[in-house]
Amino acid sequence: MNGKMRPLALVTGASGGIGAELARALARDGHDLVLAARGVVAMEELAAELRREGSDVIVIGSDLSQPDGVATLIADIAGRALEIDVLINNAGLGAAGRFVANDAARIDEIMQVNIVALTQLTRALLPGMIARGRGRVMLVASVAAFQPGPRMAVYFASKAYVLSLGEALSYELRGTGVTVTTLCPGATATKFFEVAGADHSLMAKKLRRMMRADRVAQIGYRALKAGRRVVITGLVNTIMSFGGRYAPHRLTLPVTDMLMSGD
Ligand SMILES: NC(=O)c1ccc[n+]([C@@H]2O[C@H](COP(=O)([O-])OP(=O)(O)OC[C@H]3O[C@@H](n4cnc5c(N)ncnc54)[C@H](OP(=O)(O)O)[C@@H]3O)[C@@H](O)[C@H]2O)c1
Repeated sequence: MNGKMRPLALVTGASGGIGAELARALARDGHDLVLAARGVVAMEELAAELRREGSDVIVIGSDLSQPDGVATLIADIAGRALEIDVLINNAGLGAAGRFVANDAARIDEIMQVNIVALTQLTRALLPGMIARGRGRVMLVASVAAFQPGPRMAVYFASKAYVLSLGEALSYELRGTGVTVTTLCPGATATKFFEVAGADHSLMAKKLRRMMRADRVAQIGYRALKAGRRVVITGLVNTIMSFGGRYAPHRLTLPVTDMLMSGD
């Protein structure tokens, strides 16, 4: 808290989708907010909505795909003398298609946003939380974290990294007053599939009913508040994750390849 009674939460990827809904959930539960993403116009609209409901909200235009993206964001937060009590590492993206057909720059962008920025931001903000003896961190992974994913290989691998990091940090931080929760959504109705070029995949179009982003945020926020280590959104996704983790990969590889293929 920054000399106020209300905790302050930083949400990355708050310009839409799951991040915007997590910001709404945090605001409803008495948080002030720092919203960070590239889409400043969308975040300003969200900020106006949340301010009407009583939250103080700061919008920071931030491109986490840039090598200095996190340093710039942290400098901005430090320059305003803000203390972050809750960190939501939500910004992320994927790219559909065979690895060798993926644009090399796009692969860099995925690794930078999903892995590097998430790690740097967590490393930058955890010491302050530990010193204050309280804090909540969320890493947004995916059910994709539980298995390899042909036709979206880098994305699936990046989320396996996020899950592994989150679980280890949760364990390391026992007894500090700081918790780390890894949220693993399944297919969710956001711009994700469109941005990834996967909106024609069987996964996006035919086989799955997508969960609403506000429902994902509700489940995630409840788990964050409870300090849970890992949360998977819903029973079907829990079963899929179990299958992804424990079924032989010689079976899950072709199934995932088919789900990620177009019609
Ligand atoms: N939707 C799903 O099916 C699904 C399933 C499992 C996990 N997830 C995960 O959930 C998280 C949120 O995704 P979503 O579904 O809400 O998709 P989305 O609607 O596409 O939102 C992605 C968010 O990430 C931000 N972002 C992307 N590149 C960025 C960059 N270079 N710098 C800063 N922010 C950036 C976007 O903001 P700007 O474009 O404005 O920068 C946007 O706010 C991601 O980590 C995603 O991997 C999604």
